Amino acid sequence: MKVLAIESSCDDTSAAVVVAGREILSNIISGQDEIHNCFGGVVPELASRSHLRAVQPVVAAALKKSKVTLEDIDLIAATQGPGLSGSLLVGFSYAKALSQVTSIPFVGVDHMAGHILSILLEKKDIKFPFISLIASGGTTSIFYVEDETTFTHVGRTRDDAAGEAFDKVAKILGLPYPGGPHISKLAEKGNPKAIKFPRAWLEKDGFDFSFSGLKTSVLNHYNKLNHKKELTARDSADLCASFQDAVAEVLVTKAIMAAKKYQVHSIVLGGGVSANGYLRALLKEKCGYEKLQCHMPTPLLCTDNGAMIAVAGFHKYSKFGADSLDCDVYSRSQLG
Ligand code: KG4
Repeated sequence: MKVLAIESSCDDTSAAVVVAGREILSNIISGQDEIHNCFGGVVPELASRSHLRAVQPVVAAALKKSKVTLEDIDLIAATQGPGLSGSLLVGFSYAKALSQVTSIPFVGVDHMAGHILSILLEKKDIKFPFISLIASGGTTSIFYVEDETTFTHVGRTRDDAAGEAFDKVAKILGLPYPGGPHISKLAEKGNPKAIKFPRAWLEKDGFDFSFSGLKTSVLNHYNKLNHKKELTARDSADLCASFQDAVAEVLVTKAIMAAKKYQVHSIVLGGGVSANGYLRALLKEKCGYEKLQCHMPTPLLCTDNGAMIAVAGFHKYSKFGADSLDCDVYSRSQLG
């Protein structure tokens, strides 16, 4: 079965063609970083306008690269939510219109299911159940994943998502959007133990996250330093490394706690922040101590992309069949 999938939940327009939820024929991503860069974050109205311009050429490019036409496509999938409503509506409406005119079945896909299942595109031998740690710009969550369509949401952020915290700290330091890659580059030269930023563990044995206090603590530290003198390259590197260490420690510790509680043998990472090298290394190290397996998609599949929507769409359709075309987008995840 060949699935054409469209993703437009935030600021990336993506389309992919994937065979049987496994083999990627194409995965085209058109980003908008240069549009939002000067604002230090995504401007929803600009994002949806940009999706409108990009969606048709991106879908055409995905079909062309796959060397298929719409006649070869068995299923059309599109991100239904969570995300920015205006952005979601562009890809979702486009996909439904395509389904209407071609009579190809359609499914709406939860973006989080896409992140959770993206690992299936690279690892064919993943064993269920597992714990999924999703850290992105819009969300930070832990899921207990029983199979390809059964997810229990066991932890979520109560305020800022991990990626949002990276982006806000980058803004404090005057770095461009999205800030994650810039912070992690600067952090390479810093000492992760230089500044003891707070870790919000919240309730003992709980799996929820909170990153807004950490962000405020970084801001206070920056203001204090900046008041006394101009920040040196060393100061910025130490600040980034210490901030990154605080985020990674909480994410990894809670994911491992969840793996123990739910008695699973592996943790799977997903979402844009999982491209972070320090987080990946820490998770690998700690899983090694705990005799847990950890699986991480390559960075291209960590970020928002159409291929992961195709995988989740394939499994949803295989189990539940097509969606009716009168369904609508939603801004909060409906999983678990
Ligand atoms: O999943 P994603 O592509 O889309 C959204 O949910 O928006 O995640 C984007 C987020 C941004 O906040 C970005 O700063 C962060 O992922 N990110 C990173 C890295 N690469 C991207 N955060 C930390 N380290 C990175 N290397």
